[in-house]
Amino acid sequence: MAVVMEGARGDGTAPVPALGPPQAGHGRFPFIEYPSDSKAATAMSTSHDPLISLGEQYYLPIYHPRDMVLERGQGSRVWDRAGRDYIDFGAGIAVCGLGHANPELIAALTEQAGKLWHTSNVFYSEPPLHLARELVEASRFAKRVFLCNSGTEANEAAIKLVRRWAAAQGRPPERRVVITFRGSFHGRTLAAVTATAQPKYQEGYEPLPGGFRYLDFNDPQALADAMAGGDVAAVMLEPVQGEGGVVPAKVGFLRQVRALCDLHGALLVLDEIQSGMGRTGSLFAHWQDEVVPDIVTLAKALGGGFPIGAMLVGPRAAEIMRYGAHGTTFGGNPLAAAVARVSLRRLASSEIAANVARQSQALRDGLAKLDARHGLFAQVRGRGLMLGVVLKPEYAGKAGAVLDHAANAGLLLLQAGPDVLRFVPALNIGDEDVAEGLARLDRALAGFVMASKVA
Ligand SMILES: Cc1ncc(COP(=O)(O)O)c(C=O)c1O
Repeated sequence: MAVVMEGARGDGTAPVPALGPPQAGHGRFPFIEYPSDSKAATAMSTSHDPLISLGEQYYLPIYHPRDMVLERGQGSRVWDRAGRDYIDFGAGIAVCGLGHANPELIAALTEQAGKLWHTSNVFYSEPPLHLARELVEASRFAKRVFLCNSGTEANEAAIKLVRRWAAAQGRPPERRVVITFRGSFHGRTLAAVTATAQPKYQEGYEPLPGGFRYLDFNDPQALADAMAGGDVAAVMLEPVQGEGGVVPAKVGFLRQVRALCDLHGALLVLDEIQSGMGRTGSLFAHWQDEVVPDIVTLAKALGGGFPIGAMLVGPRAAEIMRYGAHGTTFGGNPLAAAVARVSLRRLASSEIAANVARQSQALRDGLAKLDARHGLFAQVRGRGLMLGVVLKPEYAGKAGAVLDHAANAGLLLLQAGPDVLRFVPALNIGDEDVAEGLARLDRALAGFVMASKVA
């Protein structure tokens, strides 16, 4: 299957307010800041695949895919149609937790494909029934599960549930506020993008739904003040902000959020769509923060590349949504659920947790060595295999250019905003691929430094 990478510099969540028509020419958009040396990097890249013209002509031009067509993958390597191989440090934006072409996932998918593809939620089918129980048991807090197709749908469901929960308590609409944090990313549907406290994702989509309040991340005093009025129904946050620059919650912040939610009768909603499924070293990132949430949303690595999302709900709100309150045609699809069952089992294993710790350390050590050689990094932050490398101020805005050089060196890397390189490889990545990826990054950084001097 030919896979065309999505998004600016391989980042599908590129901040692109969709205002104004695109300029003429391949994939150039007036609202993306192109790094000064990006032309040089493009010139280095392999020749233009004619297939790409289909995307240029027929896709809604909301992404800025890299000039390559990926064709197959194996573990943490992918190959393009020209036969070039790449080490994959992005895993489809933190999705392919078990790498590409994982034999267990293929077996689960193909076995189910021969049995039953789709039933709708008018009828029961086997895989989602098992998956629901397994998610509840693995979660340590949930009573019930809603299965959907994506992260934004899981968050949309969570926002709707919060409102219903508050309504069931007799709270009028103006006392059903959801607090989210600046730098967050919760998805692209209208409510999820409103929860996403970053104007660049919202511009041009007004009027936005009401009932959201934005605060600075990691500021417990601001939260205490904002909740004092008693009109807050929920606080929603990522334990590690992903798209916002790989910014972890400070030690103790989630516990403070939990305490304030308890004090003011609000629900704690954790968006673990990127940080969950083993990525930070435990099945859920919030286990490390020692809090019990009311709602957790999942997607991305839950399906290992097959689209599926989930909302897990604890006892305080599990019985709120009754017959007809919400729904989906595809959510809980047997194919997706069959794959997710295997993905969950494997990503919850101690082997994966141990590998995440091992490769996280290997990446951190390797990045420290690369920084000693090239002097480009201000900070390495994050948890487990969700790492962000902040470029020094003099290279602000240049993450995209680094990604260009990385791709030319045979490394697929993502960014998290204009200044941060994002490392979210498969959680079963091996020593050899980490070492080879770092070696390629070394070459990429050397090329970037050279191009920066010339520019
Ligand atoms: C934390 C978080 N929440 C929600 C989403 C949206 O998920 P999806 O793209 O599957 O709708 C993302 C996607 O990047 C995410 O990282």
